[in-house]
Amino acid sequence: MRTITSVKNAKNSEKLVVITAYDALFARLFDGRTDMILVGDSMNNSFNGQKDTLSADLEMMIYHTKAVLRGAKNTFVITDMPFASYTDEKIALQNASKIYQQTDAHAVKIEGGKERAHIIKTLVDNSIAVVGHIGLMPQFARSEGGFKIKGKVSGDTQRLIDDARAIEDAGAFCIVVEGVKEEAGKAVTEAVKIPTIGIGAGRYTDGQVLVWSDMLGFFEEFKPKFVKRYLEGAVLVKKAVEQYANDVKSGKFPDDEFIY
Ligand code: KIV
Repeated sequence: MRTITSVKNAKNSEKLVVITAYDALFARLFDGRTDMILVGDSMNNSFNGQKDTLSADLEMMIYHTKAVLRGAKNTFVITDMPFASYTDEKIALQNASKIYQQTDAHAVKIEGGKERAHIIKTLVDNSIAVVGHIGLMPQFARSEGGFKIKGKVSGDTQRLIDDARAIEDAGAFCIVVEGVKEEAGKAVTEAVKIPTIGIGAGRYTDGQVLVWSDMLGFFEEFKPKFVKRYLEGAVLVKKAVEQYANDVKSGKFPDDEFIY
């Protein structure tokens, strides 16, 4: 099982592999096969059918973190702090403490750069391990007018570097870098001593994270360019369910093998 120290030490020596999980069933399948599991608020889109992450709340995150931890007993688990749960230091500390008190999560993740470094510091000062998240930040996409790739316009990369350094100084032990041009992902990775975990951030980050339902092909509505599908989950499931329906309708199931 990873520790904060071993995650930090992975920088410049091995790539870190992170996958999301939202329940015990799939967490059990991922357990021990990746370095870390993220209980991401992406669950609100992929599992809850919502158009964005904004309506995910603390109770949901706690409920799903408990489920994931029941499945993944040998993996370092990070829980996303949901939208509006860290609007200031006091609220952030109250809510992150609830996650720590009610679950065995190893760390929490917060979206935001320089402007939220003081919040990260407060949590770290109170013994709560924090993962940062910069670049494209889904919780702030509505206020930014959509899901925008960063690092395209002049000044973006320097802003990302400043954000990453502020988060590092505040005590985060690693940083998710989402939706940035590859050169920006590389520049940020080189600018900090803590590992960067990329998602749509190119080849040079210290690790990669993917949303499980994207990379296993269960989420069909939309496939971002950076997602590699390792399985056509939805196709396989639909075929299997159709087969089951046909078998029941035709009387082929259950046959001798499946009766008492
Ligand atoms: O919610 C999530 O799954 C995330 C990843 C996209 C990094 O934050």
